[in-house]
Amino acid sequence: MSDAHSRIATFEAFDRKPSLPDVLTEVAAGLGEAPKSIPPKYFYDRAGSELFEAITRLPEYYLTRTEIGILTENRTLIADCIGRDTCLVEYGSGDSRKVRILLEACSPQAYVPVDISRDYLIDSAKLVFDGFPALSVYPVCADYTAQFELPSAVAGLRRVAFFPGSSIGNFEPEAVVRFLSTVASTVGSGGMLIIGVDAKKDERLLVPAYNDAAGVTAQFNKNLLRHLNATVGTDFDPDGFEHRAVYNAAAGRIEMYLDARRDQTVHVNGDAVAFRKGEPLHTENSYKYMPDEFIETADQCGFDCVETLQDADRHFMVLLLEARGAD
Ligand code: TRP
Repeated sequence: MSDAHSRIATFEAFDRKPSLPDVLTEVAAGLGEAPKSIPPKYFYDRAGSELFEAITRLPEYYLTRTEIGILTENRTLIADCIGRDTCLVEYGSGDSRKVRILLEACSPQAYVPVDISRDYLIDSAKLVFDGFPALSVYPVCADYTAQFELPSAVAGLRRVAFFPGSSIGNFEPEAVVRFLSTVASTVGSGGMLIIGVDAKKDERLLVPAYNDAAGVTAQFNKNLLRHLNATVGTDFDPDGFEHRAVYNAAAGRIEMYLDARRDQTVHVNGDAVAFRKGEPLHTENSYKYMPDEFIETADQCGFDCVETLQDADRHFMVLLLEARGAD
């Protein structure tokens, strides 16, 4: 029926979401540390994904609109770098808003959005599939901080990874190196990574982005506790905790906490975990980088920097990196 030049776009979803016992083990381990912590990926159930999208539209949260501005202004240059016959793999695709700029500019053959928030991922991926008739879309529900398999259908295509939003800032420096090295091997020699990174800047701009006047970030932070209660049966009282964000200039990172408002006990997998009044639960770091600092790290992980794209105020950067491949 179809001749060699016609393509039939496909939609197929893959579920590689971590199992509940793994989540429980990880949460229990974090609560056993001093200070207590919970991995930030558990922010993202449907409510968490929706609250995060609300954060991206807040006046204080300069990151998203600045990155969208950089991508829009440079879309032709980016499309030239990406080239043709590619598969675009997006890590933590959320509502797939930013990738549309790239999909319109460079028309790849396949798009693989990867996200841990399954229903939100599938809904967003379907909207992309409906909007781009020639594009095959293969959503993968997975924890992208661990290795995961790409759909076999994209095997022959050149790979371009897209990791916007300065989500790389949520990784500890050692984890950055592990993650970038994994991405380099995933895209392979000549493949690319387009990554959004937030820049170091005045604390008076940084802190409000993580503690907005309307309290959306506070709700988002506490939703983590609701999500764990609903999925792994913990009994956190979200109102027993208070949102706090500080800039640690020495470490170059925003630190996010939920501070216990009173002494309380939480049960995790049958074990009691005690919180003292004022005790912090660490929920996230958001590291900020100078361009050279990040490019140096990327170089160690096997990436050459092809372009550094920034806004006029240099608040944010989008780096186009090319994988050198094993040598
Ligand atoms: N990648 C985002 C960032 O570091 C995630 C984020 C934004 C976030 N606001 C938050 C995480 C508030 C936890 C709490 O900017």
